[in-house]
Amino acid sequence: MLIDHWPLLGLRLTSPGLELRLPAEEELGELADLAAEGMHGPGSAPFLVSWPGLPPAERARALVQRHWRTRGERSPDDWSLDLAVFANARGVGQQRISGRDYRILREVSTFSWLGLRYQGQGLGTEMRAAVLHLAFAGLGAAEAVSGAFDDNASSLRVSAKLGYESDGIERLAASGRATTTRRLRLPRARWEMSERIPVSVTGLSPCLPLFGLRDGGGS
Ligand SMILES: CC(C)(COP(=O)(O)OP(=O)(O)OC[C@H]1O[C@@H](n2cnc3c(N)ncnc32)[C@H](O)[C@@H]1OP(=O)(O)O)[C@@H](O)C(=O)NCCC(=O)NCCS
Repeated sequence: MLIDHWPLLGLRLTSPGLELRLPAEEELGELADLAAEGMHGPGSAPFLVSWPGLPPAERARALVQRHWRTRGERSPDDWSLDLAVFANARGVGQQRISGRDYRILREVSTFSWLGLRYQGQGLGTEMRAAVLHLAFAGLGAAEAVSGAFDDNASSLRVSAKLGYESDGIERLAASGRATTTRRLRLPRARWEMSERIPVSVTGLSPCLPLFGLRDGGGS
C-alpha cells in the first residue's frame, strides 16, 4: 500500500478544534478552491512568496503544484510538510513545518495560511500550536522560528501568544518594494514553560526516518 512507502500519509495531529494531516487529492482540490477565494484581505500583502499574489485560477494551480513539489523534493536533510488543516471536517487552510539540516540544528520553521473566511477565529493559533507540539514533543526540536512582515498584526500576535521572542529583523525586496520582516524564535524551554493547547500526534513513528531521525526521535 502507498502508506507503507509514504508513512506521512498516516500522520495526524489532533487539537480540540482541528485535525492536521496530508490531504487526499480531492481535499487538495478543495484547498485550492479556498486559496482561489482569497488568502488575505484587500490592501494587504502578507506573503514573502509570490504565488498567493497570482490571479485566483493561477494561485489555485500554484498551490497544487507547490504541494506536490514539496512531497517530491523531500529529503531527510531538507524537508517540508504541508499539512491540510480541517475544522469540522472542512479544509480551512494549510500549516507548513520545515527543517533543513534538522538532525544537526534541531530547528523548525513554520508558515501558514487560512481561507479568508476562517481568519480571526483562533484557528491560526491552534494550528501553529499543533505543529509546535509535533516539533518539540514528537521530533525533539530545540528551537522553532517564524517571521512575518512588521504590519502582519495577526501572524505576529499568534507568535507572541505562543511564547516566541524577538530574533531581530530582516529587510528584503518583495514585489518590487522594500519590506521589513520581524524574525521570531521559540526556544524549547519557553515552549515547555508556556500554557499549551492539548495536541495528540498519531502515526509518527514510521515517519521518523523521513525527518532525518531514528525511532525515538534520536539522530
Ligand atoms: C496569520 C494567520 C494564519 C493567523 O490565523 P488567525 O486564525 O487569523 O489568527 P488567530 O485568530 O488565532 O489570532 C490572531 C490574533 O491577532 C489579533 N489581531 C488580528 N488583527 C489584529 C490587528 N490589526 N492588530 C492587533 N491584533 C490583531 C487577534 O485579535 C488575535 O489575537 P487575540 O487572540 O489575542 O485576540 C491568518 O490570519 C492568515 O492566514 N493570514 C493571511 C496569511 C498570512 O499572513 N500568513 C502568515 C504569513 S507570514
